[in-house]
Amino acid sequence: MKTIVIYNSKTGFTKKYALWIAEKANADCVELDEAKKMEIENYDAIVFGGWAFGGSISKLNWFKKNISKWSNKKLIVFCVGASPAENPEIDETLPKNFSKEELEIVKWFYCPGGLDYEKMSTTSRMMMKTFLKVLKAKKDKTEMDIEQIKILSSSYDISDKKYIEPIINYLNS
Ligand SMILES: Cc1cc2nc3c(=O)[nH]c(=O)nc-3n(C[C@H](O)[C@H](O)[C@H](O)COP(=O)(O)O)c2cc1C
Repeated sequence: MKTIVIYNSKTGFTKKYALWIAEKANADCVELDEAKKMEIENYDAIVFGGWAFGGSISKLNWFKKNISKWSNKKLIVFCVGASPAENPEIDETLPKNFSKEELEIVKWFYCPGGLDYEKMSTTSRMMMKTFLKVLKAKKDKTEMDIEQIKILSSSYDISDKKYIEPIINYLNS
């Protein structure tokens, strides 16, 4: 099966997962801008990776715009975010990025990445700072708020190769 992994990454976590998946699946791996110039129709499986922002998946619209052309292919979307894989909100939030029809042909996965404040754009850093400020200003903080403040205050990396296993299994199924 000819597979391509296409990714959009700002600080490197999604790129890292894309390379891991491509290596394991013996697939081509390209950044989204490069993919736009390619003949994607030649592939049997298309894996798209974007990073999480406010519950959305970066550049997913490009992928969704092309879905109708790719209905005969295996379609996978993986999202990389700062939340741990165990966060129950993932299962609630991520499917909302797809319509019912899209969910029938696209299989989605979540891979925990992390935060890298040094590589983040100024805008992203400002947004994170504002989010933290709001959280810190909350009057009746829950335990989860306190934990989140602690976690989000500095860079961290919770990525792990083990999270690509379900994706590889699905590709091989
Ligand atoms: C503005 C902004 C919003 C974010 N929203 C989320 C989110 O809703 N859920 C999440 O898990 N991570 C969120 N993140 C964290 C990024 O998804 C995370 O750092 C990811 O690993 C970045 O991927 P990249 O290194 O490929 O750019 C957000 C980051 C920024 C800057």
